[in-house]
Amino acid sequence: MAVLADWTDETRAAFRKEIVRARHTLHTSPLFSDEAIERLIEIHPREHADFATMDETGSRTSWKTGNPGDLTGAELVRAVKNGRLWINLRNLFEIHGEYRAMLDQMFAELRDANPGFHPVRILGGLLVSSPQAKVPFHMDRTDTMLWHIRGKKRVFVYPHHDEVATDAEREEVLLHEFNDELANRPEAENHARIFDLEEGEMICWPLHTPHRVENMGTLNISLATEYTTPEARLVNNAMYFNGVMRRRFGWWPGQIAHCEGLDLKARFAAGMVMRKLGISVPVETPHEGGYRFEVDPDAPLGVRA
Ligand SMILES: [Fe+2]
Repeated sequence: MAVLADWTDETRAAFRKEIVRARHTLHTSPLFSDEAIERLIEIHPREHADFATMDETGSRTSWKTGNPGDLTGAELVRAVKNGRLWINLRNLFEIHGEYRAMLDQMFAELRDANPGFHPVRILGGLLVSSPQAKVPFHMDRTDTMLWHIRGKKRVFVYPHHDEVATDAEREEVLLHEFNDELANRPEAENHARIFDLEEGEMICWPLHTPHRVENMGTLNISLATEYTTPEARLVNNAMYFNGVMRRRFGWWPGQIAHCEGLDLKARFAAGMVMRKLGISVPVETPHEGGYRFEVDPDAPLGVRA
């Protein structure tokens, strides 16, 4: 069965240039049945899995990583249903051949449907999250697509606008390896577009689009895929160059959105050289390793200290 269910000429024209919402068929695949999800959570190598909780605001600083111990897949799903947890099975496609075959089909269909689309380094994870879980206001460093499979999710998407996030703030995410959160500004909400995703819907947007997510009172299962393209590498390296010049040398680089052609290519090349030479800015991102709670399906929020 085809994965893309309604990719139209309008979708093709908008893909990667605007917000795109489209239908898919992944939620009907046996790979995402309740039993399959429980089994996957149980067998996925723990070093490639995150078990996290957050406070009611969802802010990144409130996120903590927990220890699933030797709970079974069914017990972990019960903890997610009853708690405020978020499981990410990273590198899903590298580890499980049947999911890799599905991903290969998804991206073969996307390439066929969108001439000129040449994604490389396609990665992804399975997200299993609680009815009240939230993902904070942030920006991804690569192009991402969210394939929703179960439950209801509200996705807030924001345009590129200085009232949402300035170039300097977006550079900050590229310069720091761990923290992708953007500062919340009340005026950003005036620009928000809100999408209530149902099972069988996919949403994606242009590179570096700020967004946040709230689950709508149901257990949520989604697939997150990310990929790189030559265009994204060009912009990321040019922004890296701008970011270093702004912070280390007090230079005002001008807006990245107005930067194109040879100027963009020169900045890309300079950014590549800076990275190779290790020229960057001091990074102070707090990154606490280790487990900070035990997952417990019978504890409030699924969390035991
Ligand atoms: Fe994201």
